[in-house]
Amino acid sequence: MPVAMDTLVSLSKRRGFVFQSSEIYGGTGSVWDYGPLGVELKQNIKRLWWRDFVQMRPDMVGLDAAILMHPMVWRASGHVEQFTDPMVDCRECQHRFRADHVDARPWLHFCPASKGNKFEIPGGEACPRCGARRTLCPDCGKGELTTARQFNLMFKTFMGPVEDDAAVTYLRPETAQAMFVNFENVLQSMRLKLPFGIAQAGRSFRNEITPGNFIFRTREFEQMEIEYFVNPHETVEGRPADEYWHDRWIADCMAWFRRYGLSEANLRLREHEKDELAHYAKRTLDIEYRFPIGWSELMGIANRTDFDLKQHAKFSGKTLTYFDEERKEHVVPYVIEPAAGVDRALLAFLVEAYQEEEVRGEKRVVLRFHPELAPVKVAVLPLLKKREEIVKTAHAIRSELAKHWRVVYDDTAAIGRLYRRQDEVGTPYCVTVDVQTVGDADKGEQGDQRVTIRDRDSMQQIRVPVRELVPVFQELLAGGDWATVAGRFGGPAAGAAG
Ligand code: GAP
Repeated sequence: MPVAMDTLVSLSKRRGFVFQSSEIYGGTGSVWDYGPLGVELKQNIKRLWWRDFVQMRPDMVGLDAAILMHPMVWRASGHVEQFTDPMVDCRECQHRFRADHVDARPWLHFCPASKGNKFEIPGGEACPRCGARRTLCPDCGKGELTTARQFNLMFKTFMGPVEDDAAVTYLRPETAQAMFVNFENVLQSMRLKLPFGIAQAGRSFRNEITPGNFIFRTREFEQMEIEYFVNPHETVEGRPADEYWHDRWIADCMAWFRRYGLSEANLRLREHEKDELAHYAKRTLDIEYRFPIGWSELMGIANRTDFDLKQHAKFSGKTLTYFDEERKEHVVPYVIEPAAGVDRALLAFLVEAYQEEEVRGEKRVVLRFHPELAPVKVAVLPLLKKREEIVKTAHAIRSELAKHWRVVYDDTAAIGRLYRRQDEVGTPYCVTVDVQTVGDADKGEQGDQRVTIRDRDSMQQIRVPVRELVPVFQELLAGGDWATVAGRFGGPAAGAAG
């Protein structure tokens, strides 16, 4: 049973993942702020994406372009003309809806078969009492909807101090275009050979008509996009290069989401029908995830052909081609575009990680994040906060581990409570310093300089020498097996799970 969106929204606020933007002023529509743990999680997603798709690959380079671009970019790309959604308004309550989403919404119905009483009917369904289907506004149940008109999703703004038509520019609605307009710069400065890709992660803005569902569809969001340029005249394994690389990228992106914890059962591919393809695309597949709102797009992987480079060459008057040394010809590369949303990826990882279970008669909420995604890797907890030596040792361990990872110290509750708090934010390991670690000077007892490591998922505990903490966490946080590590230290302590 997938977790309900409301549960995630409330956990996110309570534990510092995501807050509503400008909440003290009543909030801003569909814009969200990432709190202390949310920002760590988001950075981990972007860092892993960059490491796996840029740093590790010889055929990839990065870019960090400005959000404000020349307005001609958006004419050439087709966004000024075609980046629109059909919109309808209610003549009564003035609410606005995307014409193609309105039927899927639950609708208010004043049923004539039940003395005009008000009922909420699930999206797309007929009233079970009178059999009527929705024709009026789904929100107020009274107003007629206008006919659909096209609404451009780009945010307009003005460049410079004069607010006239000549100064109009746009907040970028996708990061992709910067990779096309910098194609020549990157190609020449890095002396690249096809196939190669340019990657960029950054903010995009869309004035969505019906944003919502928490961070799923917002007006300001982050994307991680790759434009992978291939030679359309080449074949790979007997197939046209663009088609071969399209399938390779689909497989690589699916594998990436699985690697960091999304389960097979919650992932699927959906091919775009011919009539829903974007104006630039030869073929597009979405990776869909089973969100609490149902199967929905997590990322798209499109074959954009040579559309963008040709358009920018036409509008700028510059040559945007690649010289194929072997064939002695200039070619306009085709582009495969794996385009992911950071916020949607974060939501998917959050949904997948969330679990409730019963431990000794009590509910335990645990976020089973992959260790490389977890916002906090280790929490250092003193068993007794009144024992100076224990507290001092715990702080020293935190400082040492913090050279490598995000590590926190917490002594604000009893140990059982502290463990549950860390479970709820997905911290994979806790380190507990106790009397045995430091000894009791009053009794002339030496400490054993060992601490307890507690594993989030199994709740098992092992005793490990303080000097071995860094190598042990290096192994565990890179995905090392808990049972193997535990075995090296004499196995988990009997009856010590907590
Ligand atoms: N350059 C191609 C492009 O932008 P897209 O399918 O419109 O393609 C790519 O966007 C990804 O960006 C989506 O799969 C989604 O993860 C994310 N995304 C798009 N619009 C979004 C929004 N309003 N809020 C959050 N994420 C969004």
